[in-house]
Parts: sequence; structure tokens; C-alpha cells
Amino acid sequence: MILSIESSCDDSSIAVTSIDTLKLVYHKKISQELQHSVYGGVVPELAARLHVEALPKILEECQEYFPLLKAIAVTNAPGLAVTLTEGVTMAKALSIALKIPLIAVNHLKGHVYSLFIEKEAIFPITVLLVSGGHTQVIEVEDLNHMHVSAKTIDDSFGESFDKVSKMLNLGYPGGPIVQEYALQGNDSAYELPIPLSQSALLAFSYSGLKNAVRMTIEKENELNLAVKQNICASFQKTAVAHIVQKMKKLFKQNPPQHFAIVGGASANICLRTQIKQLCQPYNTTLHLSQLQYCSDNAAMIGRVAVEQYKTGNFTPLNELDVFSRVAL
Ligand code: KG4
Ligand code: ZN
Repeated sequence: MILSIESSCDDSSIAVTSIDTLKLVYHKKISQELQHSVYGGVVPELAARLHVEALPKILEECQEYFPLLKAIAVTNAPGLAVTLTEGVTMAKALSIALKIPLIAVNHLKGHVYSLFIEKEAIFPITVLLVSGGHTQVIEVEDLNHMHVSAKTIDDSFGESFDKVSKMLNLGYPGGPIVQEYALQGNDSAYELPIPLSQSALLAFSYSGLKNAVRMTIEKENELNLAVKQNICASFQKTAVAHIVQKMKKLFKQNPPQHFAIVGGASANICLRTQIKQLCQPYNTTLHLSQLQYCSDNAAMIGRVAVEQYKTGNFTPLNELDVFSRVAL
């Protein structure tokens, strides 16, 4: 079994995964959303302090598995350096105490493998990763051959929901809240520009849309409930239309046999529905991670670690470092 630790942002999570059967033997996550919500976004120092409290609490529950562990896996990149350090420090201490090797896992590969928890992987697959930190398309040949074919040139999809929510004083994380408000709103109430719609570039951009929402809010005399709902609905429609427009381009160029949406923002119902419709005429199979594995979690890190364990991809203790930014 492998014990895996995830602390790249605001979720403290630990999992235990069976190497032989891929079974997720133990999985727990403590989210810090509530503590960050008053600030309208993640405060790195606060996040690090909360990991110091939460990770040992979860670890205590896994003690019965310690004698069965063959390796300790940990997310070491990309993410917030101060929070990654908490997970890596714990992993190093466990590795020394239990005399077992360390496996350093790339968080983005983890999101890809969130599709394959307790399952064999399917390759090749084109993966749209939409989270608070990333909006990118990853062409996946296998664990060691992933390349980014399109990415955002500024903000991410999830981040834009967080920022719109903050502008409307609705709380954090913005994705689920904006989606909820949008349900009751009129998505044609405001005409917002679809980013990069005239550009041939296979890329994403959300800062212009965010500014368009800011200007819309400034023009309103009173931000009552109906106005907020209409802004959320119009924004969500445009944010999703941007992704779908670019994915249509990608499908036209090279329709994938397998396509997936992963990451915290892949929980967005509007996005899921429209990508499903896009896949149909191409006979592309759409893969979605289960809702509990969309946002950051240690189960996906453990799933990657099983593959790395099988190929002997370990990291010596003195070489294990954290990297806030890293290529796939
Ligand atoms: O993957 P994740 O948990 O953390 C990162 O690695 O960033 O993703 C969190 C992001 C947040 O920006 C959150 O607002 C967004 O995913 N999100 C959503 C939805 N649920 C979460 N965005 C749009 N619609 C949603 N339903
Ligand atoms: Zn993530």
C-alpha cells in the first residue's frame, strides 16, 4: 500500500491506496474553504497553518496501515510553496520513521489520474483541466508523456468564478456559488464578450471577461438579488461558451477518441452538459471524474504514485523539494 499526501492549496488530504488492486483503502480530506471565504480567496500563510493542524489529525486515523506501507507519496509541484512544504515535510518524516521510499507526484498528473481512481487508465486521452489554478488541455499518451496543447494566457476558468463571486460579495469558492445564483438568473440579461472569439489561437483568457463583469457591476445602481443572479447567469454562459468555442476548434482539427474534463471546476454543470453535446457527433467518449475527486484530493495522488512505484520512480529524501511552478 502507498500513503499519499496532498497539500498544494487549501485542501489537506491523505489517502491509502493498494498497489495490487488499486483499491482506495482510506481517503480523507479537510477543506479550508470556510476559513478562506472571509478573504474572498486563499491566503497562503493561513492555508499553511491550517495544514499543520489538519494533516496530523488525518494521519492519526491511518496508523493501522503503517506496517503495510511500501512508499510515501506527496504532491511536490505545482502549488503554493508554503503549503506544499507542509505535505513534503510530513512525507519526509514518515519516510524516515517507516524506512520506506518517497514518491514525488505532480499535482496536474494527479488531476488526470482522478479519472482512474480504482480503475485502469485509458490512453490516449485528451484532458481539459479546469481548476482554480489551471485551464489547459493536456494530450495524454501515458503517465510519462503528457503535453499541454492549449492553456490560459492569464486567469483560469475557476479563478474567474472566484473573482466574480468576490466582486458580488457572494463568498469563496466562487464556482459553486455563482453556478447556484446563475440557476435563477437570465443568462441573456447582459451581453458579455466571449474571450478570444476572433482569434485563431487555441488558448484561453479570462481577465477581459472579469473586467467586463466589473464594469457591468459598476454601472448597476443597486446590486439586488435579481441583478446578482442575472450577472452570474450571463457570466457563466460566456465563460463556458469560451471553452466550448475553443474545444470545437480542437475537435475539428483532431477529434479525440477519449476526452475528459477534470479539476475542481469540472463540477460545473453547464460546462459538463455542453462538452457532452460537443462529444456526441464525433463519437468521442466523455470521461468525467466522480464529483468527490474533481477538487484537490490525495486519492488522485495515490493513484499516480501506484504507477510510479511500479516503474521505480522514487525521489531520494535529500532531493525532494517543492516547486510552485513546473512543466508536466
Ligand atoms: O481543483 P481545485 O479544487 O483546486 C485547484 O487546484 O485550483 O479547484 C477549485 C476551483 C475554484 O476556483 C472553484 O471556484 C472552482 O474550482 N469550482 C467551480 C465549480 N466548483 C468549483 N467553478 C465553476 N463551477 C463550479 N461548479
Ligand atoms: Zn488542483
